[in-house]
Amino acid sequence: MKIGVLTSGGDAPGMNAAIRAVVRTGDFYGHEVYGIKDGYRGLVDNDMVLLDHKSVSGMLSRGGTFLGTTRLPEFLQLETRKKAAKNLKDRGIEALITIGGDGTYRGAMDLSQLGVKCIGLPGTIDNDIAGTDYTIGFATAVETIVDAIDKLRDTSSSHQRVSIIEVMGRRCGDLAVHAGICGGAEFIITPENPVNKETMIKTIKHYKDEGRRHAIIVVTEKIFNVHELADEISNLSGFSSRATVLGYIQRGGSPCPDDRILASRMGEYAIELINDGIYGVCVGVRDNRMVYLPFANIVNQFRPKSQLYSLVKKVS
Ligand code: F6P
Repeated sequence: MKIGVLTSGGDAPGMNAAIRAVVRTGDFYGHEVYGIKDGYRGLVDNDMVLLDHKSVSGMLSRGGTFLGTTRLPEFLQLETRKKAAKNLKDRGIEALITIGGDGTYRGAMDLSQLGVKCIGLPGTIDNDIAGTDYTIGFATAVETIVDAIDKLRDTSSSHQRVSIIEVMGRRCGDLAVHAGICGGAEFIITPENPVNKETMIKTIKHYKDEGRRHAIIVVTEKIFNVHELADEISNLSGFSSRATVLGYIQRGGSPCPDDRILASRMGEYAIELINDGIYGVCVGVRDNRMVYLPFANIVNQFRPKSQLYSLVKKVS
């Protein structure tokens, strides 16, 4: 069988490990696997390359995605998707494995309606996909953020400052809550765990009066203008404050062991599903077991609030 694989949306550490597992498991079963360049762009422009065992050598530890990725708003148009489906059909590629986040899943779900046999793998640092406990790239991004928090704590303590650290996550606070707990943050502010700003500043003032030397605030992007928040804290709390936006550094780097394992398992499982004639689904890990669910159950859904929030108030 001919099978396509692509990565789409924001890149995530472990995407290459997932492609590698797809290619090598496909090869194991005698399938031909085609790498599609730059996500759905390569499908539409017919930019695809045959991958073999050797072409994914050295990819397990490499960050980013060697196939490239884009966000392609045109893919929302039926005509664009029809062109993509035709390109696959003309090449005899029957099945497609898409690695990415919610937007990638929506593209795959819509393509499924045109007869393409699609399987989705969750590849995003945000961990914001329903139907899976973890997404590929999340664990590595948490490590990157924790490393940054540890460093910022050193300088915050030296200068008696409040450090605000803005992390990615879009509509999901998992990066902030996992990294904030690991980094011993005093405040973790996420879409699922908002704070009252005035109360927080009063508490910080109280910390100053108690003689504490620093505090760490980890906040999900798009909630505050963190530089303005730092100014307010500096003006009102008695501490000076600085904000650091971690930005794209969170998406890079070599995947950590957990992400390499997760990506390898998911890539292998996707091929097993294809062998079993199961399509129109996305792969997840639940309680350390591989599972699959129809796209329609996952796209646009929110993940349940992390159980870790019960820790936040008690240990911060
Ligand atoms: O979806 C992953 C993500 O990194 C989000 O956390 C972030 O909001 C977004 O991508 C940024 O995307 P872009 O690469 O389009 O700037």
